[in-house]
Amino acid sequence: MKKLGVAVIGTGFWGRNHARVFKELEETELLAVCDINAERAKAVAKQFGVKPYTNVGRMLKRKDIEAVSVCTWSTSLAKEALKALKAEKHVLVEKPMAANTKQAEKLIETAEKQGLHITVGFLMRFIPGVQHIKTAVKKRTIGDIVCATAKRVSQWPERIGDVGVVKDLAIHDIDIMRHLFNEDPIAVYAKTGRMLHRKYEDYAHIMLTFKGGKSAFIESNWLTPYKTRILTVTGSRAIMKLDYITQRLTVEDSKETKQPRIPWKEPLKLELQHFANCISKGEKPLITGIDGLKALKIAEAALKSSARGTVIKLK
Ligand SMILES: NC(=O)c1ccc[n+]([C@@H]2O[C@H](COP(=O)([O-])OP(=O)(O)OC[C@H]3O[C@@H](n4cnc5c(N)ncnc54)[C@H](O)[C@@H]3O)[C@@H](O)[C@H]2O)c1
Repeated sequence: MKKLGVAVIGTGFWGRNHARVFKELEETELLAVCDINAERAKAVAKQFGVKPYTNVGRMLKRKDIEAVSVCTWSTSLAKEALKALKAEKHVLVEKPMAANTKQAEKLIETAEKQGLHITVGFLMRFIPGVQHIKTAVKKRTIGDIVCATAKRVSQWPERIGDVGVVKDLAIHDIDIMRHLFNEDPIAVYAKTGRMLHRKYEDYAHIMLTFKGGKSAFIESNWLTPYKTRILTVTGSRAIMKLDYITQRLTVEDSKETKQPRIPWKEPLKLELQHFANCISKGEKPLITGIDGLKALKIAEAALKSSARGTVIKLK
């Protein structure tokens, strides 16, 4: 099997993991990494035995690189992803995909024009427990879905200084809610704020409403001294609760509590494997550019709702 030639742009905390997984996968051959921080690029390249670059344009000239992961700071993701698409590379762009929806639309348009894959790093969808919940909702084994709540709280990672908690953390849950409800919310109401005099919001409470009175509630903050990542889905017959960190799933109904044994799997491995397989087989990825754009639109509507103190209706 011919391996897919790949590279990583941005080799900080997360890009380094992309490089490691690409190196480990049978489907991919890591060929290069690039970071504007030369020391970082060199260190990661050395660790994985590939060539370091500090100039993205130069790296993208290589014909053997067919696809890239873009893992730069959130506000520079779209610029680098656009360069990669224009250089005819398939792209996995990390969340939040772009700094604004206009940039995200440009990425989708360019990928379409070039006939390239674009997918967004909504990692949570690759956690096996999420797939179990999605199936239960679809088959109605928990009855009709009524509501879902997500809690994603921890301390502020100081390296994140260019976006607030909505575009950094809550966007994962926004995507998961769209995925589980299998539809787009019709309205959003949010309260966000800054407690620690940072440039962007460090807490957010977001309520999404869906057709027929279904709702989702998302709590995110960088104010909690410990890390919690929990999803609870309430159906008319049972409740499913997933701890994203341990990947433990609990299913409760009026008679019993069950914990189905689901083997732990590294979601990034599943995500990058899926990306590579979609490119090789010419198949549509689970997460499209449109999913990225829609999540970003909802995140922006949440910020607008909080600024105005009103419900924002979504088209
Ligand atoms: N999907 C997930 O679960 C997940 C998890 C963590 C981070 N992320 C995303 O990954 C991205 C990176 O986050 P991080 O925590 O690794 O940040 P980081 O600050 O540790 O790393 C970012 C790196 O990008 C480099 N960089 C910035 N602009 C660049 C450019 N134009 N060209 C090349 N290199 C550039 C920086 O020098 C730095 O080394 C963010 O968008 C973040 O939202 C996603």
